Amino acid sequence: MCGIVGAVAQRNVVPILLEGLQRLEYRGYDSAGLVVLHDGLLDRVRSNGRVAELSEKSANTQGLLGIAHTRWATHGVPSERNAHPHMSRNLIGVVHNGIIENYESLRTRLTAEGYEFTSDTDTEVIAHLVHSHYVLGNTLLAATQAALTELVGAYAIGVIASDNADQIICARRGSPLLMGIGIEENFFASDVSALLPVTSRVVYLEEGDVVEVGRLAYQIFAADGNPVDRPVQVSEISNESVSLGNYRHYMQKEIHEQPQAIADTLESVCNSKSIVPGIFGAEAAASFESIDSILILACGTSHHAGLVARYWLEEIAGIQCTVEIASEYRYRTSVPNPKALVIVLSQSGETADTLAALNHAKALGHTHTLAICNVPESALIRLSQLRFLTRAGPEIGVASTKAFTTQLVALFLLTLVLAKQRGRLTPEQEQQHLHALRHLPAATQKVLDLEPQIAKIAEHFADKQHALFLGRGLHYPIALEGALKLKEISYIHAEAYPAGELKHGPLALVDKDMPVISVAPNDVLLEKLKSNLQEVRARGGELYVFADADTHIRETDGVHILQMPEHAGYLSPILHTIPLQLLSYYVALQKGTDVDKPRNLAKSVTVE
Ligand code: G6P
Repeated sequence: MCGIVGAVAQRNVVPILLEGLQRLEYRGYDSAGLVVLHDGLLDRVRSNGRVAELSEKSANTQGLLGIAHTRWATHGVPSERNAHPHMSRNLIGVVHNGIIENYESLRTRLTAEGYEFTSDTDTEVIAHLVHSHYVLGNTLLAATQAALTELVGAYAIGVIASDNADQIICARRGSPLLMGIGIEENFFASDVSALLPVTSRVVYLEEGDVVEVGRLAYQIFAADGNPVDRPVQVSEISNESVSLGNYRHYMQKEIHEQPQAIADTLESVCNSKSIVPGIFGAEAAASFESIDSILILACGTSHHAGLVARYWLEEIAGIQCTVEIASEYRYRTSVPNPKALVIVLSQSGETADTLAALNHAKALGHTHTLAICNVPESALIRLSQLRFLTRAGPEIGVASTKAFTTQLVALFLLTLVLAKQRGRLTPEQEQQHLHALRHLPAATQKVLDLEPQIAKIAEHFADKQHALFLGRGLHYPIALEGALKLKEISYIHAEAYPAGELKHGPLALVDKDMPVISVAPNDVLLEKLKSNLQEVRARGGELYVFADADTHIRETDGVHILQMPEHAGYLSPILHTIPLQLLSYYVALQKGTDVDKPRNLAKSVTVE
């Protein structure tokens, strides 16, 4: 959470910082601020609101060097006094993404040393700590390095001093940070998207790196304090891919990008005649031979992808699979099975609980680990033995959409690899599955074409406060995902149940004001699901059924049907996700909420 950006140039950096912040807003958006060096003074502007407000407030601000921050509050309420940058005696300015765990003891000590704290944040201790080392005569680099040795926790920081017009120091440990290399100007940011308007040449920093960033040169120091060279890479992410284009919201854009994202994720198998373990890494074949079960760890939407995979893995590959919420797993006493393959699923690859769960699993003796992730440079990818990169492209809307469906594609590929290795897939079946996968982008597009009908259905939800989602089997996790999407962006209280559980409690809630949304694929559970729907109808509940074409559920009074174009067999959960994404999007439009930046949430949850 939180995004930081910094720039040192021969031109006014304020527009660069503001554009960067705007692109980082998905990481947190409750307040924003910047500080630039101008005429030997630190000129700070902060706003208890969005970057747009900060832009207005900083219309007359300028400087050739500066740092900026967009915040998702952890320590201290969202307010101007808690907004970054934090300063120490007008000499040092700091922006920070992460959490300093020992800030209370540092704050007590620094207060005793005479430092006055003006915020409730953990970050302010960094500013005073750097100050305390800087006034001893250390360079800004040395003062920052000394301060960092005293910090416990996670950070990506930028530091400037009012008497240093040529350098910014940035550093990372536990939070992402990269540098952007320009011509006689250099930058750093939490994410490459922030820098694309000024450069696509980037250096991904490693854990513990500290960098002295100047206009003409920069020097990276590794965790051991020694100078180190890191490769300059040209980012493949285009500026267009992080722009809104003709769409109204990123979420809508990203929903519509799913056919392409799925096709890109399938690229490794699209032209091959068979599916091989190597797509998960060079050591995958050997690793998969020696495993006897699977443990999937993830949070949020990624957790739902894991729940779908459990059905596939057990049914198709015949391998026992457990799925656990990462934040639960990391703190409970579990019985490790070293022969289990631990899969961590994450769009961002920087979710703190998922990273900690992976480290916890490794500490328990798990050696077979696989990360399925959308960000190649992420910590999760680096920490795992095996890896598969989904190719969804940058996802900016806080509510995850294309990252989810591409995770499902990756997990289905894994299922096929394991099924084949275990002799549970005939060559004919393998070809059928590959054919179905190749058809998936086109099938997804057909579902997207239902958008106008779904927008109409959404009108029925404008005045609703609650909603119930039902699914069975493979589609129960899709009901969970539909409910999560609706609550995230429309703030309607939504719950999902396996339809068979209806009569064990939730049926008591059903009346004419409680819409019931049902995912109804034409699978073996269809007849049972139909009976569950009758139970709802008999209690006056309004039903919205997302049904496959051949399910023969008829539209009657109180029963609204959305016919899906085709039945996709095992891949059906991927197709059935899309109308639920669109439904929540259009309900949010009805409600007038901030679709891409729902209240209280953030895209990358880098805190526990
Ligand atoms: C946040 C996001 C969700 C996401 C979850 C897990 O809650 O708002 O969209 O599903 O984090 O994120 P990850 O990057 O690990 O998939």
